[in-house]
Amino acid sequence: MAFFSRKVNIEKKDILKKPLPKHIAIIMDGNGRWATKRGLPRVAGHRAGVESLKNIVEFCLEINIPYLTVYAFSTENWKRPREEVNTLMNLMVEYIQKELEILDKNGVRINPIGKLDDLPVYTLEYITNAYLQTKNNNRLVLNVALNYGGRAEIIQAVRMISENVKKGILTIDEVNENLFSQYLYTTNQPDPDLMIRPSGEMRISNFLLWQLAYTELWVTNVLWPDFKPHHLIKAIYDFQNRERRFGGLNLN
Ligand code: FPP
Repeated sequence: MAFFSRKVNIEKKDILKKPLPKHIAIIMDGNGRWATKRGLPRVAGHRAGVESLKNIVEFCLEINIPYLTVYAFSTENWKRPREEVNTLMNLMVEYIQKELEILDKNGVRINPIGKLDDLPVYTLEYITNAYLQTKNNNRLVLNVALNYGGRAEIIQAVRMISENVKKGILTIDEVNENLFSQYLYTTNQPDPDLMIRPSGEMRISNFLLWQLAYTELWVTNVLWPDFKPHHLIKAIYDFQNRERRFGGLNLN
């Protein structure tokens, strides 16, 4: 007797039946490999990666995800060849030039997170402008992690809290997890429920170290430029069928 495995196609309507994640985080990984596989320069992979980002933002709006955080440039990415770093900085500007009006019209708040002071002046100008233009939007908060490092974010919070204790604005007894979260870039935002890493790497790579404490991780071998809304649907479907216990027991 032959056994047939039936491939189940999960569709958008399937994930709308259960609560959706409020906050999705994505490490947009695999751009370089995608390009190399095609005999193209690595920067072509980043350009293709921007197209994936556009599609995913659009889909998040379509299904009403309120928070999306994408890792665009890490504190370690400066070690890459200068041409690649320049291309990435230019792509951010290009993305804002082309997409700002439509993102704004659709209620997207562009919220850069990271050590922004170290970015090239022209990139910083565009990003600041995008932030200011969209800061009152509240349909989708798009956190763009730029020159971002999770450890650096934590150290910065520790420094600010210490300063405030020294000045008498805070007491040591007031320092708890809730207060600490308020000193991070993601202040007043829920922690990510779901973190997606394309291209198969099983690492967090200094991304949202504090915020990912109880986040469900979903890794796929698909490279970021090939990542489509149907992959996001699958990730959300898997997320919805996991049991989240936050360190407790589910006794039902
Ligand atoms: C990782 O792939 C990706 C990056 C370091 C950059 C991601 C940036 C973009 C998708 C475009 C710019 C972003 C915005 C917000 C417009 P990799 O280069 O490490 O790939 P590899 O692991 O295959 O080498």
